[in-house]
Amino acid sequence: MTSSTSRKRTTADRNERVVHKHLRLGAPPTPRLHAVVSLSYPSTAQPASRSVPFQRPLPLISFSYNKNRELEFSDAAIRYYVEPPPGADLGYAYERWVHRPEEKGRLDGLLRAISEIRRRGTGDPVIGVISWRGVMTKILTAPYEDRDGWELNVMVENGTLYLEEFISDARLEEKDNMTPRQRIQTYYGYAFESWCTASQPDAPSGWGGDVDTNVQWCNVVKTKLGDVRIIIGGEVDCVRGILNDTMVELKTSMNISGHRDEARFEKKLLKFYFQSFLLGVPEIVVGFRTPGGQLKTMQSFKTLEIPRMVRGKPNAWDARICLTWGEDFLTWIKHTIILGGNASGSVWRVKFTPCTGVELTLLCEDERREVEAGEDRVGFLPQWYWKEMQECSGEPGNTSRIDSESGRQSAPTASSSLPTGWQI
Ligand code: A3P
Ligand code: MG
Repeated sequence: MTSSTSRKRTTADRNERVVHKHLRLGAPPTPRLHAVVSLSYPSTAQPASRSVPFQRPLPLISFSYNKNRELEFSDAAIRYYVEPPPGADLGYAYERWVHRPEEKGRLDGLLRAISEIRRRGTGDPVIGVISWRGVMTKILTAPYEDRDGWELNVMVENGTLYLEEFISDARLEEKDNMTPRQRIQTYYGYAFESWCTASQPDAPSGWGGDVDTNVQWCNVVKTKLGDVRIIIGGEVDCVRGILNDTMVELKTSMNISGHRDEARFEKKLLKFYFQSFLLGVPEIVVGFRTPGGQLKTMQSFKTLEIPRMVRGKPNAWDARICLTWGEDFLTWIKHTIILGGNASGSVWRVKFTPCTGVELTLLCEDERREVEAGEDRVGFLPQWYWKEMQECSGEPGNTSRIDSESGRQSAPTASSSLPTGWQI
């Protein structure tokens, strides 16, 4: 299939079926250098074609970034939930905000965590996919995204698919140069986190300390989407009590007054839902605010109940469509790359265009160098990780295999002759 252009939904539906047929036969088109292979947008007008289960995420490890953005394997940056004061000012201490500059979407912290898990010997079998939660949320919510496109850098090494967000230098600059209005609106979200959290459990309500976006508490989980085993890492805002298994996501949103606001909020709930669902965060506390940043009301949502809450509403979405799409998307990328003759160290680019679909291309040498950005990397994987991975597989330079986990849509002839996957 060639590069997709804007199509009407009916045509997209037809194309989707064609692509699925390719997948079932285990023979997606083989991309030549710079050829573009595309996967069409799924239809949201019909129910999901099948039900794809999502395994309950199991925590593997947690880590913290300190004020100097140094990573340590501890819960030093964990925060505890406290009720915020009524009417809290979300613009409070704005001038003291320590703002971490925008970065490329590197996987380094997550790869350090995976390396640490291996070192501790608490590992698990083959990993199908490794990515940050933010990337997985973008992928899964794509069927309902009608505004913002995205691009990913992709590598497949020893059977594992690595996905990082591709943020060009121009886009990075754009993100760093927010308008004053965008800046303060972004700050409101962080200030809400500070009003709602403390560094100790059972602390009194109040300001939790000036915002420093370098500091983060992150969790890494393993899960399974259909047949695809995934390791996901992401920031967790806080926990209730002293047990880490009661994680809470904090979000802000504009006050709701009227049906239109309500419908807009229900649409936003799709992202709130997947962001938390993917890491196994069971509760989302939303602070509703005025345009000027005053906290008005609070509402707590049980993550797992959200899909049922929006069902049948004007802006309804169906999480099953997202999960089916997610499995198709991940399997399609991996199989296309592997069966397309992936050379070790190759970088691919996935481009998502709302209302159209996704395209996959192999990067040329210049583009690959742009991804490496003069850093000590092979593609976007850090050199230290690359070496560790080679030592672990014992077969340097080998191309990926198709994991048995994705056997439902795999080509049996391709899987038997290739080396075993990257294990932790
Ligand atoms: P809100 O989500 O309450 O608006 P997160 O909720 O994902 O933990 O992120 C915390 C806050 O970071 C957000 O609060 C928002 O202020 C800011 N933020 C996160 N992602 C952003 C994005 N893509 N653009 C602008 N601000 C963002
Ligand atoms: Mg949050």
